[in-house]
Amino acid sequence: MATSDPVRVALLGCGTVGGGVVRLLYDNARYLAERIGAPLEIARVLVRDEDKPRAPELDRSVVTTDPEIVLGDDSIDVYVETIGGVDPAREWVERAIEKKCAVVTANKMLLATSGADLVERAAAAGVDLAFEASVGGGIPIIRTLREALASDWVESLSGIVNGTCNFVLSRMREHGESFDAAVKLAQELGYAEVDPELDVGGHDAAHKLVVLAMLAFGARVSIDEVPTEGIRALEPIDHRFAKRFGYVVKHLAIGRDLGDSVELRVHPALVPEDKPLASVSGVLNAIEIEGRALGPALLVGRGAGAMPTAVSVVADLLDVARARRGNAGGLMTRGIQLRRRAVAPLGALRSRYYVRFRVENRPGTLARIAQALGDANVVVEQMVQEEESGVASIVMTTHEAVEADLSRALDAIAAQPFSRGRAALLRIAR
Ligand code: NAP
Ligand code: HSE
Repeated sequence: MATSDPVRVALLGCGTVGGGVVRLLYDNARYLAERIGAPLEIARVLVRDEDKPRAPELDRSVVTTDPEIVLGDDSIDVYVETIGGVDPAREWVERAIEKKCAVVTANKMLLATSGADLVERAAAAGVDLAFEASVGGGIPIIRTLREALASDWVESLSGIVNGTCNFVLSRMREHGESFDAAVKLAQELGYAEVDPELDVGGHDAAHKLVVLAMLAFGARVSIDEVPTEGIRALEPIDHRFAKRFGYVVKHLAIGRDLGDSVELRVHPALVPEDKPLASVSGVLNAIEIEGRALGPALLVGRGAGAMPTAVSVVADLLDVARARRGNAGGLMTRGIQLRRRAVAPLGALRSRYYVRFRVENRPGTLARIAQALGDANVVVEQMVQEEESGVASIVMTTHEAVEADLSRALDAIAAQPFSRGRAALLRIAR
């Protein structure tokens, strides 16, 4: 390729993220061309509905709804996949790799279900598969793990990786907004997935944790193995009691290298008010990494939305375009080494817990709860009780306990006649 030949880019999808990519490529065209040594040209754009309004900078003549026109174009250098979901994204990414084109994707669901396989295909084809935008929106977490920490051993990571969940929890806590109103606003702002249940159900964070585990621990795991809880079951009372005990409720993705296995889990947790993650609010994401030699490191930034995500996509575009021009395509992907790792069962977790019981306030109720917890080796640390119309909310925090033991005690308590359902359980972050 002569220095002035443009790098021809095909966008598969041009919605929230794809639209941001178009805008950023337009706004920074000159600067990007200088960094690459050639301009980036949007040569094809595949969408579902040709008549939808798009970024005004987009040349409408390159827009089509026919995948064959886009995937069959042999002049394309890089495919950028921002369609989302597994089908047909997977098939199209595979076709792009087969054609020996570089691929940039923001699709964490695709990576969580097929990432290891796609990495292997790309490495075998000698092309790059770049996915900075798949985790943490505009935060350079993928590059940090793949490049900056390549010399170290990541022992654990813990973070807020779903902007929608963090936004919703922040709105509920700080503005007293309802869950539904906060989710609607997250959708309007372009933070939520097409199906917001992926966000609030914790699945999007689990997808991202699988991607992080690939790079941090070299782990090839199945998404079905990751214990996943969302934020739907949280009630305003949990925010209130968390505050009273000195915590903030956050939705976390946590990973730890245990040697033979990895600990991976996604769930809401009580974060001590004085810890950095506690003050990460709104759409911000934050990921704490513990490197064996490095020690702790923290990355914070906007985790969702058109422009922060476009920053990551276009940074990948720049990298893969430069690598292609320097005949170094595939290098970054060949550096990802994966092996099958077992995921430790959640029952084996040792943690401190927050537990909220709803019970009829009869004589002996508290004694029976204490007895069941004691029988399971669970030691109560703090306890508060509130009562309304004869129904009491008993909220407690525990000392460190084994989750399977606590779970057994909660089952036994739920079977008691005074119980109004199984207790709510939240883990307390370290
Ligand atoms: P979006 O706004 O729904 O955009 C999806 C785009 O793909 C649309 O342009 C849509 O066409 C097109 N598309 C979907 N199915 C298609 C098909 N079968 N054939 C042709 N075109 C199709 O979604 P998004 O928010 O940009 O998200 C895209 C990807 O980025 C997802 O993987 C998401 O998880 C990821 N991501 C999103 C964010 C964020 O903040 N939104 C951040 C990081 C990563 P039409 O426009 O014609 O409907
Ligand atoms: N729906 C995702 C979120 C988009 O809210 O974090 C960014 O990956």
